[in-house]
Amino acid sequence: MCGIYGITSKKIISNKLFNGLKKLEYRGYDSSGIAGLSQGNKNLVIKSTGPINHLKKKLKTIANISTGIAHTRWATHGEPLLKNTHPHNSGIIDIVHNGIIENYEDIKLYLIKKKYAFKSDTDSEVIAHLINYNYNKCKDMRSALIKSVKILEGSYAIGAINSDLPDKLFAASNGSPLIIAKGTNENYIASDISPVLKDTQKYLTLGDGEFAELSPEKVIIFDKKNKYLIKKVITTSLKDRQVSLAGHKHFMHKEIYEQKAILNEMMSRYVGQASLLPNIFGPNTDRILSKIKHIHFVACGTSYHASLVAKDWIEQHSTITCTAEVASEYKYKKINILPDTLFVCISQSGETADTISSLKKAKRLGYKDTLAICNVAESTLTRLSNLVFLMNAGPEISVASTKAFTSQLFSLLLLSIIVSRSTEESEKKMVSDMKQLDKIINSVYKLESEIKKISSKFKNKDHTLFLGKGGTYPIALEGALKLKEISYIHASAYHSGELKHGPLALVDKKMPVVCFLPDNHLAKLVLSNLAEVEARQGQTFIFTNKKIPRKNKQVEIIKMPDCPDLIVPILYIIPAQLLSYHVALKKKTDVDKPRNLAKSVTVE
Ligand code: M6R
Repeated sequence: MCGIYGITSKKIISNKLFNGLKKLEYRGYDSSGIAGLSQGNKNLVIKSTGPINHLKKKLKTIANISTGIAHTRWATHGEPLLKNTHPHNSGIIDIVHNGIIENYEDIKLYLIKKKYAFKSDTDSEVIAHLINYNYNKCKDMRSALIKSVKILEGSYAIGAINSDLPDKLFAASNGSPLIIAKGTNENYIASDISPVLKDTQKYLTLGDGEFAELSPEKVIIFDKKNKYLIKKVITTSLKDRQVSLAGHKHFMHKEIYEQKAILNEMMSRYVGQASLLPNIFGPNTDRILSKIKHIHFVACGTSYHASLVAKDWIEQHSTITCTAEVASEYKYKKINILPDTLFVCISQSGETADTISSLKKAKRLGYKDTLAICNVAESTLTRLSNLVFLMNAGPEISVASTKAFTSQLFSLLLLSIIVSRSTEESEKKMVSDMKQLDKIINSVYKLESEIKKISSKFKNKDHTLFLGKGGTYPIALEGALKLKEISYIHASAYHSGELKHGPLALVDKKMPVVCFLPDNHLAKLVLSNLAEVEARQGQTFIFTNKKIPRKNKQVEIIKMPDCPDLIVPILYIIPAQLLSYHVALKKKTDVDKPRNLAKSVTVE
């Protein structure tokens, strides 16, 4: 995905545009650019490859602009080169685009015949030329925009400026998020609310097939027939400091530490003395969910790992059968649906393309109900699903997901309790286990200095193994994903019992093996799997509350607090997050913006 920001103002906006764009950098950081207009001037453009800070030196070129569009790119069509960096220009028109134009090659051929010269390898450039072509014919920017997007196939959020109209900013959206925010003597377009929070809390979401024309005093929303639309203006409770570092060196670190407060807040919102509060998944959901016999979970990446934990929780505590699929597979599979099956999709952003198309498929297939567990209220996923549960974890900026994962786990634990409770007693026990989280979580954070020390043992490694069993297998997967994402060390996760079926061949005295070993009914089995590693002199890093002797220097034991089995996944992932964070720090990688990734993946 990419980030779009635009302002039309009565004041000079070059610095504001640059600072706001930085708030969107988590959406892509291959290259960035700004195009602006000032009274009497032609389009002024600056572009840079790499992080947004590279643009700073060029800001003086656009020193006088009062209307402008900015873009931070996550490359899909065309390498991350200057020529492919947005904004794209066509004479008096500049545009920024997020999404994919599927039929861009056909449009390009058509426009080449009309003598338009292309400078980039992107799909986006056709939008600039198309608008220019249509504007030249009718000299009306709204009609030109409507005519142009009629031809586009795919998804788009578009911001556009026209030097004939120096105080106007235009936008169009279809399947890619774009908000319109209202300020004082200035108005904004943005991919999300974060860049405008310093100036305003008031915004509306541009829906599919909708357009906007903004000037410093006015916002006009219109549809494909150029008919004005009245849209509800929302006032967000988000504050600018929630998208700031608040004293932490990285967003990832801040978000790891936010987990305690978020879980606490969710606890007080949804959990009573000895039972859950009624209908927390929406009106009548207790009745709907009590009839469910099967659940199909679908998600990607970290969210998929959360679904694996939920599958384990539900199957352990009920007779419900669950499947958990990654969305990019679900979309293309034949799905057998038994009666009373619930479809659950999980997504931090609510904008992951694979998850969205899976939900669309699920709706076509006719499940009893669809439930979206999501962190972003105004997202495509929440708009499409008939049941919605909002995690309310606040904006997650770090590309590596941390607080979203534990909030997803908490939400799924609520779901697990609802679908599994058979008696008041069984609910009471689960709720009482869950309530211990708040107390125990503090001792997990206290492990940070110890984890920091052991992180140096990973710094020069190229490979690691992560092991878990039962409820900790998804934690091994998630721990390995975190390490890969931000330290670029290869990490593979296995069920500990699978080791002897192959991966053990990799183990020698240089191979670090991270293991999650809560003291439960599976502990003995995991210990014998670890003995297989130790016999080959592998370096083990064991997160455990079990009393086990440290036999030699090859064994590191990180003492976890005692806790009920039910909350093991939530507690054991936190030290794994801290471990990957400190390894990444030692390797001096860009923790919040790991190479080749973007915060949410809006392409299939
Ligand atoms: O926004 P989503 O939860 O749908 O995103 C799914 C994955 O792209 C995401 O979890 C990804 O794996 C993270 N970078 C993991 O840290």
